[in-house]
Amino acid sequence: MTTRPRKPAPNTPAPGKLPLPELAELKQRGEKIAMVTAYDAPSGRLADDAGVDIILVGDSAAMVVLGYDSTVPASMDEMVMLTRAVTRGAHRPLVIADMPFGSFQISDEDALQNAIRFLKEAGADGVKLEGAGPSLSRVRALVGAGIPVLGHIGLTPQTATMLGGFKAQGRSAEKAEQLLADARELEAAGCFSLVLEAVPAPVARRVTETLSIPTIGIGAGSDCDGQVLVWHDLLGLYAGHAPRFVKQYANLAPEITAALERFVADVRSVDFPEEQHTYAMPADELAVFSEGVEHAHRDR
Ligand code: KIV
Repeated sequence: MTTRPRKPAPNTPAPGKLPLPELAELKQRGEKIAMVTAYDAPSGRLADDAGVDIILVGDSAAMVVLGYDSTVPASMDEMVMLTRAVTRGAHRPLVIADMPFGSFQISDEDALQNAIRFLKEAGADGVKLEGAGPSLSRVRALVGAGIPVLGHIGLTPQTATMLGGFKAQGRSAEKAEQLLADARELEAAGCFSLVLEAVPAPVARRVTETLSIPTIGIGAGSDCDGQVLVWHDLLGLYAGHAPRFVKQYANLAPEITAALERFVADVRSVDFPEEQHTYAMPADELAVFSEGVEHAHRDR
């Protein structure tokens, strides 16, 4: 497999935004696509620095950032604010905003209005929406208006209750065939790429081989054209249940807790702040100030 440098060498000018059509070229060349979620400007900047190709401002934010039990409560206003923060921090990766539950289910017009908010108010490069079937008409409407759409099939967390919970999908021959048919329809509707979540690896491979647009897997095996993980899962920042497809690349939560404990102890023992953390004042100014205060005190 060929590789190309996607992270600029130190001291070279920051390259421009990754062109969307380049994703399909990466697939053709067999180069894998790295996608990660992010929800604020510092994480957007870190993902950019690390050479990530696509940042997804996922509605997983509802769980890992906003503290809800599911992705369903995420609102448009919350998602727009988070996406805006990410686009302030990340410049080279494509930034895709996740359309939250309720933002695209009602009608094509409603979906279009909400997707336009992500592009105009938040600076997103495109949107993601879950599902096939009824979502196809939404994809056509958005793509017809010039908005790049990333599809998402397999386990679709917004409709997890209908799917019987957070379970792998496409595990029977019939369900796998349906998944392949959905993938084909989403490609025909104009999706530029497709997320496959919690799908058996052989099914994901078949979908990947069938489509000319890239597939991005999460719990869908190594034959997808790219992989995505949720920021907090990847870095060990989420205290909730981690699905089996998560690989944790760091365990930052205990390090953060330990740092905070040291801060608390230093504050209580007055070991912080030290001299170098404080601001000095010219001695003559301090003398005048002190004298003034004393005068005021005596005259009271
Ligand atoms: O919301 C999200 O983070 C997602 C990814 C898991 C694909 O949809």
